[in-house]
Amino acid sequence: MAFTNLGDLPVLPQPESFALTAAYNEDSFPNKVNLGQGVYRDNNCQPWVLLSIREVKSNPIPLTTPSNSPISFLTPSQAEQTLHNQQVNHEYLPIPGHAKFLAKARELLFSPQIGSQDNITSIQAVAGTGANHLAAIFCARNLRPKNVFISDPTWDNHHLIWEIAAPNVTRKLYPYYDPSTRGLNFDGMLSELENSAEENDVVILHACAHNPTGIDLMQDQWKKIADVVARKKLFVVFDCAYQGFASGDADADAWAIRYFYTTLFAKSSSPTGPAGMFVCQSLSKNFGLYGERIGALHLVTPPSLPTQGAKAHLVQLVRAEISCPSLFGARLVHTVLDSAELFSKWQDDVKTMAHRIKGVRALLKSELEKLGAQGDWSHIEQQIGMFSFTGLSSAQVRQLRERHHIYMLSNGRMSLSGLNEGNVAYVAQAIKDVL
Ligand code: LMR
Repeated sequence: MAFTNLGDLPVLPQPESFALTAAYNEDSFPNKVNLGQGVYRDNNCQPWVLLSIREVKSNPIPLTTPSNSPISFLTPSQAEQTLHNQQVNHEYLPIPGHAKFLAKARELLFSPQIGSQDNITSIQAVAGTGANHLAAIFCARNLRPKNVFISDPTWDNHHLIWEIAAPNVTRKLYPYYDPSTRGLNFDGMLSELENSAEENDVVILHACAHNPTGIDLMQDQWKKIADVVARKKLFVVFDCAYQGFASGDADADAWAIRYFYTTLFAKSSSPTGPAGMFVCQSLSKNFGLYGERIGALHLVTPPSLPTQGAKAHLVQLVRAEISCPSLFGARLVHTVLDSAELFSKWQDDVKTMAHRIKGVRALLKSELEKLGAQGDWSHIEQQIGMFSFTGLSSAQVRQLRERHHIYMLSNGRMSLSGLNEGNVAYVAQAIKDVL
C-alpha cells in the first residue's frame, strides 16, 4: 500500500479472537461467558496446565543445551524453578531447531515408522502460525503457484498469512461448509479442486478438527482428495493444530496426513504424484502451551527427489525471520515425548480435554432442546474439536454479546471450552432469546 506519511495508514481491525478476549476481560458482568478464542479451559472455565507438562517441571532437567550431552541434573525441588532461570543455560539452538524435539514431534505426527523416512525434512517453527507462514513464503518464493486454495470458511489467519507472505499468489476459496445442512459440502470442495486447480497450485487442508466448522472429512472423502491432489500435481499444506485434542486419540487424528504420505510420497508411490506436501504442526492446543509458541514444519518431498536444497532454503528463511527458534517449549515437549511415562500421561491429558468438550456438546444440545429452542441442534454433537459452528448469524452473535455478555466469533463459531455445567443453561437460554 502506497502512503506519503505514516499518518496516512488506515487503522485496521484487530484480529477477532484476540479482540474478543480483550473485550471479555474488560467486561465486569458477573455471568459473562467467553466462547471466543480457541483455548482449552477446564471444568471451571480456567486455563489448564496439562498434567504431563506439570510433571516435566518437577522432573530432573538436563543442565545443557539439547545438542550437547547432559553434564548434570537438577534435583526435583530445584527443577520447579529452573526452566526460566539461570540454572539451565540459554544458548542459541541451531537454526533448524531442537533436533531431538523435531524427531519426536515428527514421530508423533507421522508415526515412528513414517517419521524415520528420509524424504521428510523438519524444522522448528513459531507454533502453527509460524509454520504456516514459513510454508507460504517458501511456496511463494520457490514453487511460484498461481493459486492457493483455502477452505470456505477457514481460520482467519490463513488469509492474512498468505496475503502478507505470498502477495503474488491468488487466494481462491473452495466450498467446505453447507449452511443448508450445517454439514460438509464435499461435492463442492472436490469439484472446485478438480475444475479450477492447476499444476503446482497449493491447497490448504485442515488435518482434523476443522477450524471454524468442527466438520472433518471421512476417510473415503480424504481418499478422493488425495487422488485429485496426485492427478493434478498439487502441493498440499496440511494445517494440524489439534492432534489428539480432536478425538482423544493422536493416531486417529493424524490419519489423513499418514494416508497422504503412504499413498502419495512413500518409496513405492508413483513418481508422477503431487508436487510436495507441508505439514504445519502446532503444539499449542494439544500440549496446552499457547504462549510458548512451539510448533514444527515438515516438508515431504516426492521420493525420487533430494531434500537438501529445500531444507537449505527453509533454514535461510528461519535465519531471516527469527535467526533461530526458542528453547523453552521445545524442551518441554521433547521431555514429554521422550519419556514413556510422561507420554502416557499426555495421552490421558488429550483424552481429558477431548472428553470434556464432547460432554459440553451434549449438555448444550440437551439444554437447547429442553428449552424448546427453535431448530435442530444435532450438529453441535456431530462436530468435532474445540469449536461448534452454531449457525447463529452475526446479528444474533452481536445480541448475545450486547444483551447477555456472551462472547463468540461473528461467523457463529463458539469455542466450547468456555462452557461448563454452571453456565450452559444460561447460554442456552440466551441463544433461545436471540433466535
Ligand atoms: C482461534 O482460532 O481462536 C485460535 O487459534 C486463536 C487464534 O489465533 O485465532
